[in-house]
Parts: sequence; structure tokens; C-alpha cells
Amino acid sequence: MEKYIIKGGTPLAGEVEISGAKNAALGILAAAVMADETVTIDNLPDVSDVNVLIDAIAEVGATVKRTNRHCVDISGKTITSTVADNEYIKKMRASYYLVGALLGKYKRAEVSLPGGCNIGSRPIDQHIKGFKALGADIKIEHGMIIAQADELVGNHIFFDVVTVGATINVMLAATLAKGNTVLENVAKEPHVVDIANMLNSMGANIKGAGTDVIRIKGVEKLHGSEYSVIPDQIEAGTFMLAAAITKGDVLVKNVIPKHLEATTAKLYEIGCTVEEYDDAVRVIGNPSLQATNVRTLPYPGFPTDMQPQMAVALALANGTSTITENLFENRFKYVDELTKMGATIKVEGNIAVIEGIDRFTGAEVSALDLRAGAALVIAGMAAEGYTMIDNIHYIKRGYEMFEKKLQKLGGNVEIVDSDKAVQKFKLKVG
Ligand code: EPZ
Repeated sequence: MEKYIIKGGTPLAGEVEISGAKNAALGILAAAVMADETVTIDNLPDVSDVNVLIDAIAEVGATVKRTNRHCVDISGKTITSTVADNEYIKKMRASYYLVGALLGKYKRAEVSLPGGCNIGSRPIDQHIKGFKALGADIKIEHGMIIAQADELVGNHIFFDVVTVGATINVMLAATLAKGNTVLENVAKEPHVVDIANMLNSMGANIKGAGTDVIRIKGVEKLHGSEYSVIPDQIEAGTFMLAAAITKGDVLVKNVIPKHLEATTAKLYEIGCTVEEYDDAVRVIGNPSLQATNVRTLPYPGFPTDMQPQMAVALALANGTSTITENLFENRFKYVDELTKMGATIKVEGNIAVIEGIDRFTGAEVSALDLRAGAALVIAGMAAEGYTMIDNIHYIKRGYEMFEKKLQKLGGNVEIVDSDKAVQKFKLKVG
């Protein structure tokens, strides 16, 4: 089984190019099936979640042509089925965006219930509430979401919680509903805005994405488009924290600094320097990190997807810090793994109390979900000695060539799949 092996202690330095945003790409790919003409999507991250969704889209009969690892042409004209129930779909949560897309276009969709990282219960009641408000009949049978409508009619929908998935899914369906839809208490993440912009490039009429209220005028049909995915704010934030944790100096390129402001603010609070440029940020670590407190919130608050990575930095800071996780009820699974590396973290409910230590020691640890795994990698980068991380398939869901990007910054990390490879790595790095 493939693992990461890391020899820690080298400050990361140099430049890293950020890939396209996974969580924007997934909604954009689903939106592409809503046109009968060709949609070209560029700057896709080459990560397994994206590749799985592309396979699922091909499975329902869309014409899919990969021009390269980062670019795909999709045409929904050849779709023969509104049933998406296969091994691809079951693997990945965002496959449920096919419900909004297929329901919007064909007024029918049958999609396997979502999988995804186990960070909490992850209900879909708000998705269902939105689809029903548009006139759809929803059933959950045999592990499938079955949605159908004679017609979809615009409505005024107020989400009970701020939810990225439901905001995107209901926005997809409402795009082709008759009349006007108003979505209130919506998610404002950059990827919600990116998907709205992509739909508008296909002829949709969506206003207000990125604010608390999204207004959609239903249109008859959508047309082809060429669209490029925004940079991944979470991949960028992960490398920013890696620079801080290894006391390095990293220029993170191909980013939108505005999307990183919550992470930048926290890096300042713990004593790092962050220089902002048009499409890059430079992070200079501080030999002595300071404790602080973090509360995860929907955008523009501190992102829950950066919570484990921030915990690693706070575990090495002087003093006591707290992290309050307000979005998911099971997002501290990495704490037991970080404890094996010497961290002193106590979790009480949705609050982690972190007592800073001088440095981690390398250990054999497990990636338990996507961002927890990424956090362990950057912890290993700062640890004394060797760290081995298994279950790296979680990490590959959301990080393109993670080890190669870290190697380019001077990180001693490789993927190994045998004891022989481990020995070879240890001989090489000493
Ligand atoms: C998206 O998940 C992201 N995934 C997650 O990123 C991210 O952590 C999350 O948004 C929050 O930003 C993708 O975009 C594929 P939510 P999603 O619906 O849409 C509750 C990563 O690491 N809720 O915004 O599933 C839910 O329980 C992944 O890339 C309901 O109550 O998140 C949670 O408490 C992990 N009812 C809160 O809303 C619903 O119908 C936020 O969930 C839906 C959600």
C-alpha cells in the first residue's frame, strides 16, 4: 500500500504553483452536463475527486474528451440516462451535484446517496428542501436520491443553515426552472461564485453569488462555454501553513489573495509575515510561533478545511491556543495522530485546547480524511526524524502532485510502497 515517507526538519523555501479549486471544479463539471453544446473546462486540478466525477459524467452518457490532465470538453447532448449509480458515484460526495444538474435539465435524476470524507453526519435535508420548493418530488430509496418534477417553478427559499452543497445544488436546478428563484442564507464561498459565473457564461441569469442572497431568473436552455476554474484556496492555505510550520519562506503562486484573507490574518496573529501580490502570496515563517484562538465559520470566516492544518501550527506555538469547530461534529480525528508525534491537544466537544510544544517527533500515522492527511504531511515536514503516513488516497482526493510540489520546495518526502523503498529513501536523505 502506498505511503508518504517524510524526513522532517528542512525549512520549505522557493515557489509553488497552486492548482485549480477542487470544490469549484466539482460543481462546474456537473453544470457542464446541462448544455447540449460543448463546454470546455480548463485549470481542473488533477485529483481523484475530479477524475471520479468526470468518469461518472461519462457513465450517464455525456460526451467527455480529456484534452489534457487539466482540461476537458463535455457535451450533455448524448446523455442517455438520468440514473447515476455506479462505483464512481458512491465514492464521492459532490456527485450529488448531478441531482441538481440532471433535475434542472431533464426534470428527473436518480443518484446514489453521497459518500465523502467522514467528518460528520453530512445531511442533505437542505438540498431536499430546495428541490421540493422548486416543485420536485424527492424519494430516498435503496440508497438513491430520486428526484422528479413535471416542471420546476422558481420559488423563494431560505436555507436553515449556511450550506455550500445545498446552495450549489439548488442553484443548479433553479437555473432552468420557470420564473424567478431567490435563495437566502446561502454560502458565499469563492467556489459558489465560480460556479455561478460558469453558469452565467452558459447563458444562465444568476445574480448575487458571494452575497447572502442569490437571485436566479430561470432560462429555457444553456449553451456551450469555455471556462477556467479559480485557484484552490485550501491548497494555497495548506502551503502557506507549511511555510509557517517549517519556518520557511515560500512564494505561493497562482492564487487570489482575497480568498486567503482569513488564513493570512491567522498567520499574522501567530507571528508570520505575509506579503500579498496580485496573484501570489509570500509567507515567511517565524522561529517562534505565538498561540492564538480560531473559530471555523462559513466564508469569509476561517475555513473548516484549514482547521487541521492550523492545529499543526498551534501545536508548535508558544502557549495555549483553542480551535472551535463550528461546521462539522467529527473534524478532530487527526488529534490522536498528531499526539503520536508529541502534540498535546485536548478535545472537549467542538473545542480543541492546544498546548504548544517545541517540536514534533516523527511517527507512523494515518490519514483519516483529506485535510487531516494534509495536516499530518506538513507536521511531518517539521518533525524530527522520519514520519510515515498511510491511507494517502484520502490526500490524493484534493492535492495534485502534493509530494512533487513539496520536493520542489526542498521537502524530503516520497511515496513508498515497500520496505525496500523506505530503506532507499533513508539512505538518500540520511
Ligand atoms: C463542502 O462540503 C466542501 N466539499 C467541504 O470540503 C467543506 O468542508 C464544506 O463545504 C464547508 O465549507 C465540497 O465542496 C465537495 P456544507 P458540503 O453543506 O457541501 C450542514 C474538503 O475538504 N448541512 O457546507 O458537504 C452540514 O452538516 C471538503 O474539500 C445540513 O445541515 O458542506 C454542516 O454542518 C470536506 N444540511 C454544514 O451544513 C444539508 O442539507 C456545512 O455543510 C447540508 C449541510
